[in-house]
Amino acid sequence: MDKLAIIGGRPLFGTIPISGAKNSALKVMAAALLTDQPITLMNVPRLADVDMLLRLLEQHGAETQFDGSTLKLHAKTIASTEAPYDLVRKMRASFNVLGPLLAREGKAKVSLPGGCAIGARPVDLHLKALTSMGANIDLDEGYVLAEAPDGLRGAEISFPFVSVGATEHTMLAACLANGETTIENAAREPEIADLAECLNAMGAKISGAGGSTITVKGVDRLHGCEHRVLPDRIETGAYMMAVGATGGELTLTGANSDLLGAAWAVLEEIGLDIEAQDDAIRVRRNGERCKAVDIVTQPFPGFPTDLQAQFMALMTTANGVSTIKETIFENRFMHAPELSRMGAKISVDGQTATVRGVERLKGAPVMATDLRASMSLIIAALAAEGQTMVNRVYHLDRGFERLEEKLQACGALIERIKE
Ligand code: UD1
Repeated sequence: MDKLAIIGGRPLFGTIPISGAKNSALKVMAAALLTDQPITLMNVPRLADVDMLLRLLEQHGAETQFDGSTLKLHAKTIASTEAPYDLVRKMRASFNVLGPLLAREGKAKVSLPGGCAIGARPVDLHLKALTSMGANIDLDEGYVLAEAPDGLRGAEISFPFVSVGATEHTMLAACLANGETTIENAAREPEIADLAECLNAMGAKISGAGGSTITVKGVDRLHGCEHRVLPDRIETGAYMMAVGATGGELTLTGANSDLLGAAWAVLEEIGLDIEAQDDAIRVRRNGERCKAVDIVTQPFPGFPTDLQAQFMALMTTANGVSTIKETIFENRFMHAPELSRMGAKISVDGQTATVRGVERLKGAPVMATDLRASMSLIIAALAAEGQTMVNRVYHLDRGFERLEEKLQACGALIERIKE
């Protein structure tokens, strides 16, 4: 398993191009299964998760062609409606092929998903929504067996709490349903609006995406389209936080400040000098350490759970005490003990972590436990004195495109050790 060796203590200066959003790319890729015509996606990041979904789509019969960041997908016919355990277990987003397969072919057998080990992460809301739309669903030996021989039908769906995946899955399935579907308490993450934009370009009739009520009027068929995936707001936020931890100044090209929600105000409050430019964000740390601020993770537009770990890394060297409350996932502080190995002062009590900022962290061997936790260790390592060895970096390769290259270009001493 590859490791990253990082010698910290150097400020970051330069320009980092922000990639397309992983969490959006994975959903628009699943949309390719809804039509027999080709779709072209632009700004798709080259990531292990994207490769994994590509393999799954190929297994379902799609032809795929990846050229730079442009991905062409053509599911002329569906060769198999089964998504096997080996291809679904490593990544939760692959579960989202269930809805499109069911909508197009009237049946599907999809393994229950895996993904990051950040809590139980059930799929009950996904299955309830599909059941409301007329699907018969059974669970057997780790697989979901779903059937809708006469097609799915429109339904009124009200989620008891916000779920990004269930909202997207329902939208994907509802496009080809008979009649109108309404989704109440829908997730409002920017990736939802991006998926709706792509589906509408394919001929779907979706309105309200980005708000908490979404309406999908079913159509008989969808066609091909071209769609540009929106920039990755989590990658954007992570590099902004890296500047907060190390000092320096970065220009993040291709980034969009509108996508950061509450994180933008938090980054200003801790003392970062940030400016939205045309198609870029400039971030600079003035003076000394950032100020400690309390945060609570919330669905969009609240502070994103996917930036919680990176923010904790930043707070370990902030001036003062910060409390970080995680409300989305029940087991998402696995980075805390690793950060403590580097000298961070963190105590965790249930869903709340209290971080007492120290003057400086010290490099140490640490272990990446999940995708965003891995990035928090990178941020801590860039700021720490001496060398940090980050083990198990395969998590990072799932979600951060060309990480070492982007950081090296800005003066970071970071090197991959292949094993
Ligand atoms: C997506 C993102 C992930 C992000 C998360 C929250 C992708 C590929 N992943 O994950 O990076 O951290 O949104 O912003 O887009 N839940 C249930 N039952 C369900 C579905 C969800 O109980 O059927 C729970 C989950 O366990 C979790 C909460 O709802 O506690 C929110 O999860 P959800 O918004 O669905 O996250 P994902 O779509 O899995």
